[in-house]
Amino acid sequence: MVIIFISFVILCLNLYFWLHNKNNRILENNRILENNRILEKNYPEGVTRFNIDTNYKKFNPKLYKKISEKLSLPLHLMLFNISGDANIALSIRTAAVYGCSDVWIVGKKKFNKRALVGAHHYINIHKIDIVDAEFFIKHNLQPFVIEQNGVPIEEIKFKNHINSNNKACLIVGSEVEGVPLNLIKSLKNAQVVSISQYGMIKSLNVSIAASIAIYEYTKQLRG
Ligand SMILES: C[S@@+](CC[C@H](N)C(=O)[O-])C[C@H]1O[C@@H](n2cnc3c(N)ncnc32)[C@H](O)[C@@H]1O
Repeated sequence: MVIIFISFVILCLNLYFWLHNKNNRILENNRILENNRILEKNYPEGVTRFNIDTNYKKFNPKLYKKISEKLSLPLHLMLFNISGDANIALSIRTAAVYGCSDVWIVGKKKFNKRALVGAHHYINIHKIDIVDAEFFIKHNLQPFVIEQNGVPIEEIKFKNHINSNNKACLIVGSEVEGVPLNLIKSLKNAQVVSISQYGMIKSLNVSIAASIAIYEYTKQLRG
């Protein structure tokens, strides 16, 4: 009786694991489709191909960082005291899509990387505590403060402020306080760039504002 019971339990367990594997794992050539994510066999450690543009999938994943460096523009993004994990991650994702080489995260040490979809592999991310006018001089960065009540973005000619010795740095501010006024005032050559608004709501979400500014910058630089 005991033997029959144990055999029945083993049979049930086998059936459970077989069904589980069948649903989640389909072998296809040398690829494994797992929960709709493609994992390449013999994949170099620490490198991911998820969300890679199809045009670049044919290259060795070890070259991805180099390729993205080649595709990048003279552009940095600074996230000033942003508190929301999603806002940080989504801004970095847009930055990686449009060829921003570096992102400076000011004030926040840790954030959830889920919404990055791997963007952190292809962009340089720096975490710093504070930033002042000296910082931009030291890194040859031309600051563009993305903030309300500045010059409409349509009127900004980004190219006129960039040369072979500097790069643009788009600065967006925290969800509550924005970019601090004392920082803006201390940046003598900074442009305050505003995205026109037409509705009732007071301001854009910070990652959306960063995305629009990055898009406009890259459109002007590449166009
Ligand atoms: C939610 S807003 C900050 C709060 C806003 N200063 C307020 O008083 O409600 C977060 C950040 O998004 C960016 N932002 C939002 N709307 C913007 C706009 N219309 N133009 C430029 N930047 C904007 C700015 O960088 C701003 O610091």
